[in-house]
Amino acid sequence: MRKLSYFIAASIDGFIGDPDGDAEFFTQYVDEEFFGFLTSEYPETLPTHGRQPLGIDELENKRFDTIIQGRASYDLALGIGVTSPYAHLRQYVASHTLKESPDPAVEIVSGDVAAKVRELKAEEGELGIYLCGGSRLAGELRDEVDELVIKTYPLILGSGLPMFTSPFRLDRFTLGSVRTFGNGVTVRTYGRER
Ligand SMILES: NC(=O)c1ccc[n+]([C@@H]2O[C@H](COP(=O)([O-])OP(=O)(O)OC[C@H]3O[C@@H](n4cnc5c(N)ncnc54)[C@H](OP(=O)(O)O)[C@@H]3O)[C@@H](O)[C@H]2O)c1
Repeated sequence: MRKLSYFIAASIDGFIGDPDGDAEFFTQYVDEEFFGFLTSEYPETLPTHGRQPLGIDELENKRFDTIIQGRASYDLALGIGVTSPYAHLRQYVASHTLKESPDPAVEIVSGDVAAKVRELKAEEGELGIYLCGGSRLAGELRDEVDELVIKTYPLILGSGLPMFTSPFRLDRFTLGSVRTFGNGVTVRTYGRER
């Protein structure tokens, strides 16, 4: 069974963006050491338009071969004229309003998105599915998340976009690994207790 992994940047107090959804400020922490970690451990999480100028677009996918994101997250790419932001992955965008995909490489999921994820998980293959965000889609897919990979940046936001927009409930996870970086960033992985 393939895993759905929520790989996400967050503040210390657990927000993935400011109250308007902006998350650009996290990128100030991508220094040489942290960039080295991302390119060696999670190269496929870097978008195509970020990989190409750095000459790293040929890096092999290590953990994921598929990505799913919410329409609002995909809008960030569309806003800069990019219709296929993760060309090295199979791309799905959840949306009820996008009637037609802006790009042949991107499939719109308008029906039962959790059922679609279960279908993808049931496929054969070594690599998993990258849940990119945002908060609303993660809330919808909360039950399907098997792994969390949380990049925590040394910032407090006070309010903003939560990691999951969903009702209160206790879901238990087991800590897998912790990596710390010189700039104060940590990356923790957790597996869901089933
Ligand atoms: N910190 C990070 O690592 C990170 C990563 C990704 C994104 N973000 C931030 O997250 C923000 C966006 O998050 P968000 O929570 O506002 O939105 P989102 O989850 O990206 O997108 C929400 C949209 O997804 C679609 N959707 C969600 N559930 C659906 C379902 N069950 N079936 C069909 N469509 C569904 C709907 O699109 P329609 O309205 O078209 O129906 C909904 O309006 C971005 O601004 C970005 O900055 C942060």
